[in-house]
Amino acid sequence: MKMKACILLGTRPEIIKMSPLIRACESLGIDYYILHTGQHYSYEMDRQFFLDLELPKPKYNLDVGGRPYRKQVGMMIRQIMDVLSKDRPDIVFVQGDTNSVLAGALAANKLGIPIGHHEAGLRSHDLTMLEETNRIITDHISDFLFAPTKDAKKNLEEEGIDMSKTWLTGNTVVDAVKENLKISEKKAEPLKKLGLKKGGYILATAHRAENVDVQKRLRGIIGGLGLVFEKTGLEVIYPIHPRAKARLEEFKIDLPDGIRLIEPQGYLDFLQLEANAKLIITDSGGLQEEACILKVPCVTTRDNTERPETVDAGINVLSGTVPEKILSCAKDMLENHRRWTNPFGDGHAGKRIIETWLKESSKS
Ligand code: UD1
Ligand code: UDP
Repeated sequence: MKMKACILLGTRPEIIKMSPLIRACESLGIDYYILHTGQHYSYEMDRQFFLDLELPKPKYNLDVGGRPYRKQVGMMIRQIMDVLSKDRPDIVFVQGDTNSVLAGALAANKLGIPIGHHEAGLRSHDLTMLEETNRIITDHISDFLFAPTKDAKKNLEEEGIDMSKTWLTGNTVVDAVKENLKISEKKAEPLKKLGLKKGGYILATAHRAENVDVQKRLRGIIGGLGLVFEKTGLEVIYPIHPRAKARLEEFKIDLPDGIRLIEPQGYLDFLQLEANAKLIITDSGGLQEEACILKVPCVTTRDNTERPETVDAGINVLSGTVPEKILSCAKDMLENHRRWTNPFGDGHAGKRIIETWLKESSKS
């Protein structure tokens, strides 16, 4: 019997991390379609990534972006159920911890369609994060749980999840970086465009709701970036996420010297900006992982992380959002030599995930 997969995605990191699954479906001749919830919808947060990664257009594109969450999650569930009912797949793949993931998993669950969760088992143990509840709920209703690391698999075991449903696969972020780094070296010239030198700047991002929506924390991050420039002379390049841009305007935060805001970057440009940075300062999940893969030290402006492997490996440090702490962490990461390890796998996670699903489904 020919199997059919639905690849559900909704935000920038999901497009990137789902791309290896899409490639694997294509190379293995699997019938699949892409269902885009439309959670991210601006050209530079969405379409740009389909172009950079040369992905086919989604078969279904829902229109839920920019809505308040009280409306958005419900709208997504209803519309995803409509699509899955008329174009019924044998599995719905979801990736990560966004509202799109939660809605996709709940919709599939109500229709009795198996769910495959890539990035299962990540835990920050901070229930105030929307993403943490999204992850926990999705894991507990998934049928195939693809844990990227041993730590993530252990979290699932500790929560009493049936271990026969879990597989250690690595994270497709490694596949995506490996597949696209060389292409980006050839095609993208962001350093030239921005007048930057290799190793001569710091790359920063901040977009987490619990950081940028809280005025004190956002002021702390911006103040910290300004302090880092003042003490190191390294310019801070900050491609700004639309959520953070809106909050900077709302809170009327003035930027100190040395911080250059730029538009969100496409993946090929962004990979080059990451790979050639002296240091990354971020609250992004994906950037903590990519820093390990690209061997760039990282400071994470959070109090916790669902990616503790990066901290254990000595490549990442948690600074919180107090400016002086951001500075001391940045100095430490700039000055101290470290050992590079990549805990996120060998770059074949996408194929492994699809093959595991096919093999396990053929048993039943
Ligand atoms: C979402 C995820 C977060 C993930 C991030 C990746 C949830 C709860 N959060 O956060 O886990 O790390 O995506 O970037 O699912 N906006 C635009 N254009 C866009 C997208 C967003 O203008 O293309 C603006 C809208 O005003 C929107 C706001 O940004 O209301 C926030 O977007 P949303 O998707 O709700 O959350 P993110 O902060 O992007
Ligand atoms: N990214 C990008 N352009 C940018 C910022 C990020 O291509 O301007 C990529 C980055 O390489 C990573 C992913 O987007 O793969 C991370 O997305 P984000 O930080 O929005 O979400 P998170 O990973 O925190 O969920």
